[in-house]
Amino acid sequence: MVNMLKIAIDGPAGSGKSTVSKIIAEKLNINYLDTGAMYRMCTLKILNKNINLDDENKITEIIDKIDIKMENNVFYLDNKDVSEQIRDEKISKNVSKVAAIKFVREKMVDIQREIASNADVIMDGRDIGTHVLKESKNKFFLNASIEVRALRRYEELINKGVNVIKEEIIKDIAKRDKLDSEREFFPLIKADDAVEIDTSGLNINEVVDLIISKIGEKND
Ligand code: CDP
Repeated sequence: MVNMLKIAIDGPAGSGKSTVSKIIAEKLNINYLDTGAMYRMCTLKILNKNINLDDENKITEIIDKIDIKMENNVFYLDNKDVSEQIRDEKISKNVSKVAAIKFVREKMVDIQREIASNADVIMDGRDIGTHVLKESKNKFFLNASIEVRALRRYEELINKGVNVIKEEIIKDIAKRDKLDSEREFFPLIKADDAVEIDTSGLNINEVVDLIISKIGEKND
């Protein structure tokens, strides 16, 4: 991580991580890595193969050989563009269980660190500041109330034409928050040296500007 900009953005679902990370990457002309999309691709692969989510041996075998690629925010699983598919509610409902499996996390973190090793990068996820880019000097933890986060996700889905019930979204997000925060390996928590930003009353540009104003040193 010599003389490179490594920005870690963590936070729960609907806190605005991916939207602001994408804009910051464009503004600063650096790479953006959506680590959640990687766990979503793992989940899609496992569900496509009809593997039981409790069958860790089978999951290890499959994920060890998984073929994932990311180019300009387009996600390829076995050379097929799955960018839309990985946002399905079925994936959202199951991803936290998959992301809690130790082998899955180790494998994905290896790929994430490899990508970060030779480029300036902004990465968003749940364990970026605490684990994946632990040495980063630019860590942010975004948060917002569950109502605000669920409303954002609800509007996003309705705008995409997906028929969803608001109460269901609140329930799903609360369940995912719990699984992500309570899991054994690298749970969702704020790194001690991360700047916490409550995005409840802020629009996207305000969050982007706030983060950019706080970006400091590169890693040396
Ligand atoms: O966009 P949203 O916040 O809904 O989710 P995401 O960032 O796509 O992440 C989906 C799920 O992957 C999370 O709920 C976590 O269970 C898991 N995840 C993780 O464990 N570690 C990461 N670095 C990123 C995501």
